[in-house]
Amino acid sequence: DEDEEGVLSSEDEQEAIDEEKAKDSELENQDEQVLETQGEEQEVQCIAEDSQPPIEIKDDAKKVKNTDDKLQHEPLPRKPAVYVDVIRSEEIQQARMKLPILAEEQSIMETINENHIVVIAGETGSGKTTQLPQFLYEAGYALKKQIAVTEPRRVAAVSMSQRVAEEMNLSNREVSYLIRFEGNATDQTRIKFMTDGVLLKELQSDFLLSKYSVVILDEAHERSVYTDILIGLLSRIVPLRLKKGDPLKLVIMSATLRLADFISNERLFRMPPRVINVESRQFPVTVHFNKRTPDNYLKEALNKIRKIHTKLPEGGILVFVTGQREVNWLVQKLRKAFLFNRKRALKGSEAKAKKSEEVKDGEIADQDLDDEDAGLKKGHRKRRKVKVIPQIDLDDYSIPGDIEFDSDEDGEDHEDTLSSDEEENGAVESQEGSRATTQPLWALPLYSMLPIHKQRMVFQPPPEGCRLCIVSTNVAETSLTIPNVKYVVDSGKCKVKLYDKVTGVTGHVVHWCSKAAANQRAGRAGRTQPGHCYRLYSSAVFNDTFAEHSPPEIQQKPVDDLYLQMKCMNIDKIVNFPFPTAPDLMQLKTAEQRLKILGALDDKGNVTPLGRAISKFPVLPRYGKMLALSHQQELLPYTICLVAALSVQEVLLEVPIVASPNLEEAKSARQRWNATRQRWAGSGQSLLLGDNMVLLKAVGAAEYAASRGDLQRFCEENGLRHKAVVEIRKLRLQLTACIRDNVPELADIAVDPQMPPPTELQAKLLRQILLAGMGDQVAKKIMPDELKEGEEKAKFKYAYRANNMEEPVFLHQGSVLRKSLPEYIVFQEIYETNKMYMRGVAAVEPEWLPVYVPQLCNLSDPLPSPEPIYRQDTGKIHCYVSGTFGPQAWPLPRIEVP
Ligand code: CDP
Ligand code: MG
Repeated sequence: DEDEEGVLSSEDEQEAIDEEKAKDSELENQDEQVLETQGEEQEVQCIAEDSQPPIEIKDDAKKVKNTDDKLQHEPLPRKPAVYVDVIRSEEIQQARMKLPILAEEQSIMETINENHIVVIAGETGSGKTTQLPQFLYEAGYALKKQIAVTEPRRVAAVSMSQRVAEEMNLSNREVSYLIRFEGNATDQTRIKFMTDGVLLKELQSDFLLSKYSVVILDEAHERSVYTDILIGLLSRIVPLRLKKGDPLKLVIMSATLRLADFISNERLFRMPPRVINVESRQFPVTVHFNKRTPDNYLKEALNKIRKIHTKLPEGGILVFVTGQREVNWLVQKLRKAFLFNRKRALKGSEAKAKKSEEVKDGEIADQDLDDEDAGLKKGHRKRRKVKVIPQIDLDDYSIPGDIEFDSDEDGEDHEDTLSSDEEENGAVESQEGSRATTQPLWALPLYSMLPIHKQRMVFQPPPEGCRLCIVSTNVAETSLTIPNVKYVVDSGKCKVKLYDKVTGVTGHVVHWCSKAAANQRAGRAGRTQPGHCYRLYSSAVFNDTFAEHSPPEIQQKPVDDLYLQMKCMNIDKIVNFPFPTAPDLMQLKTAEQRLKILGALDDKGNVTPLGRAISKFPVLPRYGKMLALSHQQELLPYTICLVAALSVQEVLLEVPIVASPNLEEAKSARQRWNATRQRWAGSGQSLLLGDNMVLLKAVGAAEYAASRGDLQRFCEENGLRHKAVVEIRKLRLQLTACIRDNVPELADIAVDPQMPPPTELQAKLLRQILLAGMGDQVAKKIMPDELKEGEEKAKFKYAYRANNMEEPVFLHQGSVLRKSLPEYIVFQEIYETNKMYMRGVAAVEPEWLPVYVPQLCNLSDPLPSPEPIYRQDTGKIHCYVSGTFGPQAWPLPRIEVP
């Protein structure tokens, strides 16, 4: 019995540890020495290991089990040299004992003691994130230095630090977190959870990471850009620290997915690192494919949840859809259908229970067999038996085994247990009658933008008598383990931010996720008991259309900031960097190009002083440049505010949240919101600042509301996303602190959250600053007759031509510049929906282009002996008369020399 073995071996271990502890307390003073000796031994072993033949590692890590025969050719177990006491509550201790990783503690710690780089692979929920930092702490790794744990997601960094502090009975001064906008790390911090981006920033000021004894890179399988880069950098830092006689341990933790990219990658690790596989106690999950793949997976999900909820025994439901909006939509529908009737259900049940006991007792017997097993309360059973839904086959969900697919060889699917072929429209509504008789459903949303206190609700048990149903984006796929999930409903879709490697155009597309991701999702159902996964697509689609794995993030987004950061770390040939998966050559080239246009790199590709200044700001290089230029004219508070607002996603909602489903009301709310935007945009120079002015005013107004304690309501009424506004404030403070630290002459700047609107002059200068930062993103208005062949002339009243794009681009409906349509504009980004739209638009003057984006200007007609032009707005001297701009070669206007 696996369970027993696990407990036994940890008991043995505990005995050994207790013995050791007794000795330790006698020899307390020698701890330091012991640690040092350990270091020396490691060095010797490392050299010895290098001369060994490579360890054979198979791609599919699942198959490489950490069995006894593997232990035979490893050194005999040594007792831990140091043991730091942790006092845990009985309850916590019992919960820990159930985690598969506890059984492996000894072998994990031995492997870490004896190797510098170790990979730990194990299914989600096996206890890697919460337990490994504790093992290391207990083994003394946090005595002199800190233990760093990186997470690709902020949600995970925060919630894991809280969980570990709680388990260890330590405060959040000792087990802390640090993410982009906030943290609670102190001098006393021993275990520090942080996002991978934060650790990368720390590397810039301390390349050897000298305050850490161990770096744990968690969720490495997610292949986030920063984790990938950290793996590459740490593969070089570990040997450097060893050389210095101050060894650093690197632990890479991952779900059992595609490990080969980092373990058998010779550029990364000359010798493949040791891999420990944590065997997890995964219960069998039966996978049910839909017979047909529906067009509308949301509606299908709703149907499926309803059926599970009304038909199947107790157990939480976890639903995977793609984005925040879908999550909210589905949760609202579910609440309307099942939760708000809770009172009614409870009230009604008492009366009905009496009746049905007499009349329908006979019916309970066969239908409720499984309910009995699941320990349903009597009252619920009474309510359940009233509904009669055809086509349920209760035998179909008890097939044991590993993850099983209930489709047969020729690809034909069996009829799904919960076939969805019947009832197309208004399924939930048509349940009116049975709703009142159904157990309430406790539906909760989960996505990374959700406020933290709401995210935490998913870990808590639902109210008495309710079934838990969590509707989530893919955050619940691997980083968070939600207790007691028995049913998974998988849309099979995920939302990916696509971007064009050349133009940088972004767009969100929803498409099929990978087989690996779908299997991860299915696995969520088998954590605590056998479970079921309902896939809302056919097995044919799964087999033929799904990719094996999704491509790593580094191949899917611009790498400008990464490129600059690496340059600033003196990594010269970025093409030669040991990336686990290298970015596309084109991506690197365009990043270099854009950095040159910004002036962050010189012609030879070396970092300029401006580039160094830019890299100090924790924002994208283009925003860094805007900040770097804002010393003048008291612009800094505005630029900080703008940059903060531009760095946070979805500040201005397209449509304000309207509680009422009434169409008229929704329409008038939208009109009010548009009017508000237009009012915020102002007139004159302010209006030319366009959507950016709206952002400034919105933030300003929100601050005013916040000072009256009215922020939440204000945001809801004015179409602002509350969480975004709060984040902007934090980022403003952080940027201010950062500027104080890095720019001596600005050491006394302060941010007054309630700043007055910019003056006319300031508004004009802000447009120039926007141009300086985003000069590669300029568009010129074109009239229909300027459209090219095939661009459907008649269709548009106007269009814009962006300097780096072939197709025409447009102003979005929400843009305040749609009325004035300026000749030249600078935009924050282009995204694609049904057309190419520009976001974050401001007007610019064409004669500014040679001044602020000289790298893109081709001045055809310079004066032979240039008569200087003094420009008041910049205070600089210029000498050009005309030329062309950008790859599209727009003519620049002739500037008359006075
Ligand atoms: O990292 P890995 O996925 O291997 O597991 P983990 O995150 O360390 O989770 C181990 C266990 O702790 C799971 O069973 C979780 O349900 C539980 N846990 C919890 O109850 N509350 C939290 N806030 C975090 C984890
Ligand atoms: Mg984890």
